[in-house]
Amino acid sequence: MDNRERILELRKSLHRHNYLYYVKNAPVISDFEFDALMHELQDLEMFYPDMYDKNSPTQRVGSDISEKGGFAQAEHKYPMLSLDNTYSETEVQDFFNRVSELLNEPFEICCELKYDGLSISLTYQDGQLTQAVTRGDGVRGDIVTNNVKTIRTIPLIIEGGECSSEFEVRGEILMPWASFETLNQERAKEDEPLFANPRNAASGTLKLQNSAEVGRRKLDAYLYYLLGENLPYDGHYENMKYLSKLGFKTTEHIKKCSSLEEVMEFITYWDTERKNLPVATDGVVLKVNSLRQQRNLGYKAKSPRWAIAYKFQAEKAVTRLCSVSYQVGRTGAITPVANLDPVQLSGTTVKRASLHNADIIEGMDLHIGDMVYVEKGGEIIPKITGVDLSSRTFMMGDKVDFVKYCPECKTRLVRYEGEAAHYCPNINECAPQRKGRIEHFVSRKAMNIDGMGPETIDSFFNVGLINDISDLYRLKVKDICRLERMGIKSAENLIHSIEKSIQTPFERVLFALGIRFVGEVAAKKLARAFKNIDNLMSATMDQLIEVNEIGNKIAQSVIDFFAEEKNRVLVEKLREVGLQFATEESDSETSNNKLEGKIIVISGVFEKHSRDEYKAIIENCGGKNSGSISSKTSFILAGDNMGPSKREKAESLGVPLISEDEFLKMIE
Ligand code: IVH
Repeated sequence: MDNRERILELRKSLHRHNYLYYVKNAPVISDFEFDALMHELQDLEMFYPDMYDKNSPTQRVGSDISEKGGFAQAEHKYPMLSLDNTYSETEVQDFFNRVSELLNEPFEICCELKYDGLSISLTYQDGQLTQAVTRGDGVRGDIVTNNVKTIRTIPLIIEGGECSSEFEVRGEILMPWASFETLNQERAKEDEPLFANPRNAASGTLKLQNSAEVGRRKLDAYLYYLLGENLPYDGHYENMKYLSKLGFKTTEHIKKCSSLEEVMEFITYWDTERKNLPVATDGVVLKVNSLRQQRNLGYKAKSPRWAIAYKFQAEKAVTRLCSVSYQVGRTGAITPVANLDPVQLSGTTVKRASLHNADIIEGMDLHIGDMVYVEKGGEIIPKITGVDLSSRTFMMGDKVDFVKYCPECKTRLVRYEGEAAHYCPNINECAPQRKGRIEHFVSRKAMNIDGMGPETIDSFFNVGLINDISDLYRLKVKDICRLERMGIKSAENLIHSIEKSIQTPFERVLFALGIRFVGEVAAKKLARAFKNIDNLMSATMDQLIEVNEIGNKIAQSVIDFFAEEKNRVLVEKLREVGLQFATEESDSETSNNKLEGKIIVISGVFEKHSRDEYKAIIENCGGKNSGSISSKTSFILAGDNMGPSKREKAESLGVPLISEDEFLKMIE
């Protein structure tokens, strides 16, 4: 066998082993053998570039090269509709009766699980995956083929049997609980914001521009809908079994029911049993099984008449409230946390839950020892939603009174007008606030100092190595390498990362200072408007609110911040170590106010700049980006392939379309 034949053979064999491992959970070779075959194929493909195949098993690893300019978009051949939802069994009964009346003949309902991820449409031509598109607005979505290829349960090539020359399969992309937890643990270590639930994590992951990172995050997919001309069977159920034979991972928990009782039985069973599944589900979808009957029943504006989704109630548990503790955040905001008797909820043990603020505690008339309802509702942090008053005895514990003094520094708390939270006003001395400011300063979107998570900050702070952010720039390798868990190499890397951060542009330094209410966007606007810190420090209220999107609250906060002697001293210390306190000439050159007050929607694909670059240009020129067209839209920056629905909407509202060239001329 020559090398070319070997390449083909290896591809075939790896596709099969991939299917057996990921879809069937029944590998017949070891991981080691699989890797050896993969390496052999990778090596051979390198020597025979003319044999490149976009669907070779080697293409699943994704690329580390970021795709520039966001995703191109494609129109769905068949629009991606949604489903009518209900939480009520009576409405399921109404659906069943309605279908029965309309059809006036025997019918079957196919029940299957409703997966809680994001929908995807996969197109196969001549047995090869050619395109994967997100739902988008139902008419057009983002083309995310390279990212989807990293999902091992999605076949790149159909080898399981005969299939038509073109068809579409739809399903749900999910992040399994296990991958979700690992990802959040990694993010917590890196001090990056956590994903609230697997759905958000899957959606954030699929939209990454780096498919190698997508591959690392281990997404999965369940497929539940086959579309195309001349489908093999008239039954949805039978088509799903056919898809499964072709090598797709379809929903395994699927049942054809002939009576309402059977449907209800399926719902009741899965309401509890779903807790044992590796992925999140949020209901049961009922579909009329026969495609002929589906066509007879037809569609409403946004959903079919032949299907309905019954949604499960958010999972609840009842447990005892043992105590309430109070956490102090970077801004001094106090968060009350309920400490509970451990209880099982959605597959995890819950010991703590959020209590939000003093008003909510008061509203529930909460007492220590109360039996409370805990809900997860798809979110990672459970919340207390109520008290079981019936289980209160006359022996009940003390009423929960929101603390009056800071649990850390004992300063009397304050509550600002119009705010739900209580604050510790001891900004300069209260330890968690000081540490929190350092954590914010080093975070990725601020100075992006690698290797400095909360634990490292804690240990530096506790031994007195850092008191405020300027001390970071005086740290030496010899001072820190002696600390626990800090070897020479990590110490050197950290110092290098701190030194590198000196180049961080002014707008991010301004954000990193942690001025209350000055987020990333406000910092950008202020940096561009005032050009340097001295102008900003001496700005008056009127000058500040003149800046687009800077209101009274932010302006007052900036004035208050620089009115503090301590903060002015801090700025001087940071200036001495070389931080950037002025915008670069080139920054201001590309900035002007030509789009001041304009609300602009970007649509389509562009030649000269990416969509992200255009977004930045719009902001630099004082304009505002918006995702949807309304009567307030000033104009649409229209590239190629702008969607027909957007075009129609713009026409009906009289919003002008501006081409790429016209736009560039406009801002010169
Ligand atoms: S069928 C015409 N089946 O739920 C509708 N959808 O609210 C075809 N979903 O956008 C959809 N599991 O993302 C169908 N087993 C399932 C599903 C399912 C989850 C999602 C899907 C859809 C949304 C509708």
